[in-house]
Amino acid sequence: MFRVDGYVLFPYLRIRLMNTIASRILRRLSSAGDFLSGEELSVELGITRSAVWKHIRQLRRDGYEVEAVTGRGYRLASLTGRPVEAEIRPFLTCQQMGGQIEYHSSAVSTNLLAKSLAADGAVEGSVVVADFQSGGRGRMGRTWISPAGVNLYFSLILRPKVPSIRVPQLTLLLAVAIHRALTALAPELEAKIKWPNDILSGPKKLCGVLCEMQSEPDYTHFVVVGIGINVNQQEFPSELQATATSLLLETGRQFSRPELLASVLNQFEPLYLQWLLCDDLDFVLPFLEEHSLLQSREVTIEQGRRAIAGRVSGIGRGGELKVETPEGQTVLVSSGEATLRKTTNA
Ligand code: BTN
Repeated sequence: MFRVDGYVLFPYLRIRLMNTIASRILRRLSSAGDFLSGEELSVELGITRSAVWKHIRQLRRDGYEVEAVTGRGYRLASLTGRPVEAEIRPFLTCQQMGGQIEYHSSAVSTNLLAKSLAADGAVEGSVVVADFQSGGRGRMGRTWISPAGVNLYFSLILRPKVPSIRVPQLTLLLAVAIHRALTALAPELEAKIKWPNDILSGPKKLCGVLCEMQSEPDYTHFVVVGIGINVNQQEFPSELQATATSLLLETGRQFSRPELLASVLNQFEPLYLQWLLCDDLDFVLPFLEEHSLLQSREVTIEQGRRAIAGRVSGIGRGGELKVETPEGQTVLVSSGEATLRKTTNA
């Protein structure tokens, strides 16, 4: 337990309170655009002037340039462009997603942090975001390379009251939200959704989604959806150069990470609310099929030791890939790794 401004708190709550006060100070300084006195801030936030000063020091440690002038107070000289709460919130227009935002300059994996927060009772819509991940995780036990200062790595906590069998549909719903957010900010991008969890530009991956849950067959305790978007990365390690890309490499422009993160949440919330009312993904199937990389293509889907080959004819209402086999059967594939097959004209 810890003592903060006179309160004794458990570690998780203490970190949350510290984050919230520092980010409220940041928001006030950023909206004021000029000096604000320590007295004014302390009255507004209901904390002592020395507590204000402590949080200002924290903001400076986080990389914010906060000027302090005797007799005038504090002024924010610049924003950092990092995906911190105070820089994300001005772009948020949704109600529930991003209600709590916890930023880490470094984390092993935001999915790991989010799962532990969810198990401790974090509310639906809470977001954990990191500037750097030392152990970013991808699907199928892969690593998600997560260098500092350039990309987005975040996890969203959801508590849908649906049977666990529906949960994998959330990956596709997120793919729709991310596709819409990306193309709203970069209309020149020709992004495609690669079932079940990737967004690609041309043959290269821009974004991946990792959905994890704690559930019983009839009850979902919580879902953590982890999202990695390559935003301003200039260069990839040689082993990824043929398969990975970033928004910067695709468009020649830099993007605001806080704005993009907020935009994904803004796009996702209405889709999620509609999905909760429906039994399936029917309402987004036209969008998914229009933007699907695999639509009408010959594919092989690896499912452990089994492989299914055929031509993709669409996406099922439950989010399955519809594959027509050479024998003329339509198979609904609900999981696996799809690869495009090279076809010859001979
Ligand atoms: C994939 O394409 O394999 C999924 C990649 C998901 C990466 C994100 S980054 C934020 C979150 N934290 C993780 O450790 N993984 C997800």
